[in-house]
Amino acid sequence: MSHGIALKPAKSRKSTNLSGTVRIPGDKSISHRSFMFGGLASGETRITGLLEGEDVINTGKAMQAMGARIEKVGAEWIIQGTGNGALLAPEAPLDFGNAGTGCRLTMGLVGVYDFDSTFIGDGSLSKRPMGRVLDPLREMGVQVTSTAGDRLPVTLRGPRTPNPITYRVPMASAQVKSAVLLAGLNTPGITTVIEPVMTRDHTEKMLQGFGANLTVETDGDGVRTIRLEGRGRLVGQVIDVPGDPSSTAFPLVAALLVPGSDLVIENVLMNPTRTGLILTLQEMGADIDVMNARSAGGEDVADLRVRGSELKGVTVPADRAPSMIDEYPVLAIAAAFAEGTTTMLGLEELRVKESDRLSATAAGLKLNGVDCDEGKETLVVRGRPGGKGYGNAAGKAVVTHLDHRIAMSFLVMGLASEHPVSVDDAGIIATSFPEFMDLMTGLGARIESDESQAA
Ligand code: S3P
Repeated sequence: MSHGIALKPAKSRKSTNLSGTVRIPGDKSISHRSFMFGGLASGETRITGLLEGEDVINTGKAMQAMGARIEKVGAEWIIQGTGNGALLAPEAPLDFGNAGTGCRLTMGLVGVYDFDSTFIGDGSLSKRPMGRVLDPLREMGVQVTSTAGDRLPVTLRGPRTPNPITYRVPMASAQVKSAVLLAGLNTPGITTVIEPVMTRDHTEKMLQGFGANLTVETDGDGVRTIRLEGRGRLVGQVIDVPGDPSSTAFPLVAALLVPGSDLVIENVLMNPTRTGLILTLQEMGADIDVMNARSAGGEDVADLRVRGSELKGVTVPADRAPSMIDEYPVLAIAAAFAEGTTTMLGLEELRVKESDRLSATAAGLKLNGVDCDEGKETLVVRGRPGGKGYGNAAGKAVVTHLDHRIAMSFLVMGLASEHPVSVDDAGIIATSFPEFMDLMTGLGARIESDESQAA
């Protein structure tokens, strides 16, 4: 697939003894929100540990286009926010590149303002459903103009006075929950979001930290009711972004699969809404020590020690999906090397990620010799410990469909496969984990760019 930028094919090969101590770049979800809330709050926000991936940088540019002042001084990002309710009309379309989170959350943040804002993105983002965010915004009085049936490009115009709504989120999506809450920031009265299935709670926690009047009530069935008082004052904060557990997943699974590995990953975010993969891998028999568990800036963090392990297949229940939604492609790679069958349930949301991740994962597995079945919302992988016959001896590349996590997952697969594994594009990895190649090769992984695949 072409995105107007030359594809950068890459290849990985069987490796041994990955070892070292590393820090992973900052969490993507918290980094997006740090730029957004810092850009909106009154006064100064100072951020360290920010993920400087393309997705987050695009969010920073959007906030600048709406009046925030953002600069980097040494290791710190310093933001002077506009004050809540005081964003400026962007003069040009806001380009979110590959980033669903940046785009959907900003649609909520600015969509209720009484001026036009236009949203555009790359070939992947332009295919993704925006109706899940546009529908509640319409209920709040936002006028939506789209020539592509609720796909980008989309132009929003808010009413003079937005309508506070009570919105029950119809799918497990932190982006939808967050978009409605952020729209509520510039809406008079109380905006209420009912979340039947808990998803990552960074928006709630961070808005409280910035001084918003936001409460969360959880009933006996785990249904959460989040109430936000609109038009309150937000005040700039000091934020240290912990390491991204979703990026951590790649060196972590690599260390489990590559024999003789012993790796320490420091300062990983351990918010319980994000740790489903670690739990699942531990159930599979993974040797992962959670060390120095501590609290930092209102979040749980820890260091992880990971050693090469013999894994066994498990059933991953559907209700675990929200806590590991971005980790299924790399879990599928771990499952391919496990003894027995791994069954992953409740994967419907995977179909609307940067690619249709369920079919992209299944296609990549099959191309590289893995026995698997893709269902409507399930993936079943029958593993083969040792990876004999895995990889693609003919050098055929996995199609990544502009999806960073598909690219990284299959590069991890090649490290434990008999034959090399190729991907058609590793350039897209820069959206979330620009250091991936250097970090992995620094641990001893045999990954290289693959000129033979270049078109
Ligand atoms: C995110 C929410 C999730 C996740 C994405 C980041 C967020 O998306 O896949 O990578 O920061 O709110 P959904 O809300 O679509 O599940």
